[in-house]
Amino acid sequence: MYRCQLCAGELTVFLDLGRQPLSDRFIAPGDPEFTFDMRVGTCTACTMVQLTEDPGCDRMFHHDYPYRSAQSVAMREHFERTAHRLASRYLNNPGASVVEIGCNDGTTLQAFDALGIKHLGVEPGGRVAKEAAARGLRVLPEFFDEAVGARIRAAEGPADLIFGANTISHIADLPSVLRGVDRLLASDGVFIFEDPYLLDVVERTSFDQIIDEHFYLFSACSVSEIARRHGFELIDLERLPVHGGQIRCTLARAGTRDRAASVGATITEEQARGLATPATLTAFAHRVARTRDDLVALLTRLRDEGKHVVGYGATAKSATLTNYCGIGPDLLSRIHDSTPTKHGLLAPGSHIPVRPAEEFTSPYPDYALLLAWNHAEEIMQKERAFHDAGGRWILHVPEVHLV
Ligand code: SAH
Ligand code: TYD
Ligand code: ZN
Repeated sequence: MYRCQLCAGELTVFLDLGRQPLSDRFIAPGDPEFTFDMRVGTCTACTMVQLTEDPGCDRMFHHDYPYRSAQSVAMREHFERTAHRLASRYLNNPGASVVEIGCNDGTTLQAFDALGIKHLGVEPGGRVAKEAAARGLRVLPEFFDEAVGARIRAAEGPADLIFGANTISHIADLPSVLRGVDRLLASDGVFIFEDPYLLDVVERTSFDQIIDEHFYLFSACSVSEIARRHGFELIDLERLPVHGGQIRCTLARAGTRDRAASVGATITEEQARGLATPATLTAFAHRVARTRDDLVALLTRLRDEGKHVVGYGATAKSATLTNYCGIGPDLLSRIHDSTPTKHGLLAPGSHIPVRPAEEFTSPYPDYALLLAWNHAEEIMQKERAFHDAGGRWILHVPEVHLV
């Protein structure tokens, strides 16, 4: 039996994605690989959807962590807009300060800095933290937890805003993060985080959002319950179109701020759609198996017809997809990607070679599986000559289809 990391309730397992590697661990030939059993369960007590096994934060977020926020123009614009909005709403007082958990290359922090706001980033990826510091930003190269929250409070004073994008759902020891936020946050401050939204994952069958790093899949219902258990209140919610569908949650100390109508409305919608019910999650698991069967059948047929098929976007997500489906270099000869830190390496588990995006054109393949489907608009626009030359994109979300 598996227990919830947050409330020790019993987990009901609804999806088994098999043995998986670390999704951002691109390797050289012959490098040893860590793998773990990827099963997903929902807590019968607090409804939080989570992995049953924690691969360990030191393994995932190491010195050479390869992900860089700035690789996507759309995400850069999103984070700039986010910084402006949050600053005008929550950081109006002179001397107001923001702490970002998981600041990565400093994309968001730089936008706060440009507005003249006192900032501090917390980022355990040693190399990427140095890159952010080289941009003139203040970065603490550590994992945020209760002790670090207390230490920042002692050194810098309370934070008016604590922000985390695509980070809070990554941290299995979320209770320690919430205790750290409690130590650090000003009495009337807000803790805002944005992460993949369970409803989008279920409704789009975007199961490749489930990776080692996405330990939790948040819903309004589960976040509201966990906030309550730690003395906070979920006071605002916003659905975001980025990264295939996300939810932005705003927490404040219980009773300090009004609760927006969006919170109750979203919880009601989740209940109406049966998001926490076993039948909904079991039906989702059946659609996941169907996507796998359809995708493998298509790629096998194209290979047998002698077509040249590659992948585009060496995403962390693609580790779940390729390893669950058993897709290797025989079905996808290589994956093109714009991130220099991934070039020349092999994709985790599948061992498909990662090549620069510039090599996509020489010569164009017949088909390209868009592994970075969350950036479809940006990538299809950038690579429109591929489609003009007769190339076809393969997408697997919400179901397998050609564009
Ligand atoms: N916020 C950026 C980066 C997301 S990737 C964006 O949205 O694009 C997740 C980042 O969180 C990584 O850089 C990782 O090193 C960092 N991280 C993981 N655990 C953390 C923790 N406990 N405290 C602070 N950062 C953490
Ligand atoms: P991302 O969307 O963050 O997904 P994940 O969290 O699953 O890793 O990663 C997008 C990947 O796609 C990243 O490796 C950069 C790459 N990419 C390109 O190669 N070209 C592009 O135009 C864009 C936007 C991304
Ligand atoms: Zn629970």
